[in-house]
Amino acid sequence: MNILSIETSCDETGIALLKISGGVRAPKVTVLADLVSSQIKIHRPFGGVVPNLAKREHLKNLPILFKRVQAKCKPLKFDLITVTVGPGLEPALWTGITFAQALAKEYKKPLVGANHLEGHLYSFLLPGLAGGRKISFPTIALIVSGGHTILLNMDSFSKWKRLGETRDDAVGEAFDKVARMLDLDYPGGPEIEKLAKLGNAGAIAFPRPMIHDKNYDFSFSGLKTSVLYYLRDHGDDASLSQADVAASFQQAAVDVLVAKTIRAAKATGAKSVILCGGVAANKKLRSELGKASRKIGAQFFVPPFKYNMDNGAMIGLAGYMAHERKKRYKMAANGNLEI
Ligand code: KG4
Ligand code: ZN
Repeated sequence: MNILSIETSCDETGIALLKISGGVRAPKVTVLADLVSSQIKIHRPFGGVVPNLAKREHLKNLPILFKRVQAKCKPLKFDLITVTVGPGLEPALWTGITFAQALAKEYKKPLVGANHLEGHLYSFLLPGLAGGRKISFPTIALIVSGGHTILLNMDSFSKWKRLGETRDDAVGEAFDKVARMLDLDYPGGPEIEKLAKLGNAGAIAFPRPMIHDKNYDFSFSGLKTSVLYYLRDHGDDASLSQADVAASFQQAAVDVLVAKTIRAAKATGAKSVILCGGVAANKKLRSELGKASRKIGAQFFVPPFKYNMDNGAMIGLAGYMAHERKKRYKMAANGNLEI
């Protein structure tokens, strides 16, 4: 089946065309087109995503990207259209939904909603690193993005339970806020990672919030505040190294994520671990969670770098899986849609 997919939940406009077969148990994907238009430069002066600017840019970019998909895949053939209905910024989500509804009418094709978080969750199945390796269940999945930090316990691609989540800031949000304290550009994650390479991760003993708690929840706001106090107290020291601050903060965040994910994997007898979401682009997190997973005998899956950030291809996969699972999302923007 060919699926046309549309993503507009935040600051990337994405349209993709996928060929998928195999059903919900063993999906096999070929990416026929995958176009992403990033708005990062437009939001950068504001230090974060401005919803109305995002909406304006999506409205401008959607027809342009669609024309490019048409030009790339001639004749354009698809059986199903899918669009992100949440979670995300509602004005941004609506632009994609309205565009998808118009296409469904014009091409007389069915339209189904997709959950953005399920897109991240399945994105390791897109062609790349997994290289045809089959996943063994049960699985622990760690979803880390700008808005979410969630641990799932999965019995299959269609059955899972939430084990825990952040009680305050998402980990990506903490990276973004610490980056702002250090006068780095938005989005902060990649900037912190770059600066951290020049610093000593053991220089400052930032807290590892909730690392020893028996539950699987997270908290990153205290860690962020510790960085703020550290900079307030040491900001004028000639010896202050911003790179040490970045490296020590990153290490504290990675330590908590790895420790809790591995504890969940051990407790549930997981045979595999999935890492996904924008923060999964972080090389330190990828390598430390990968190493720790293999050490307990679990397979480790992470999407190829280009599929960590928001994109249309992962939404095509999420729409396909929802369609196969007969999961019907309401065709309306839901900023707080859960997984
Ligand atoms: O999944 P995503 O593109 O958007 C949401 O659905 O939220 O995630 C964006 C988040 C931002 O907070 C960004 O700073 C973070 O992912 N991020 C990173 C890295 N690349 C992106 N965080 C840490 N290290 C990175 N290399
Ligand atoms: Zn995302």
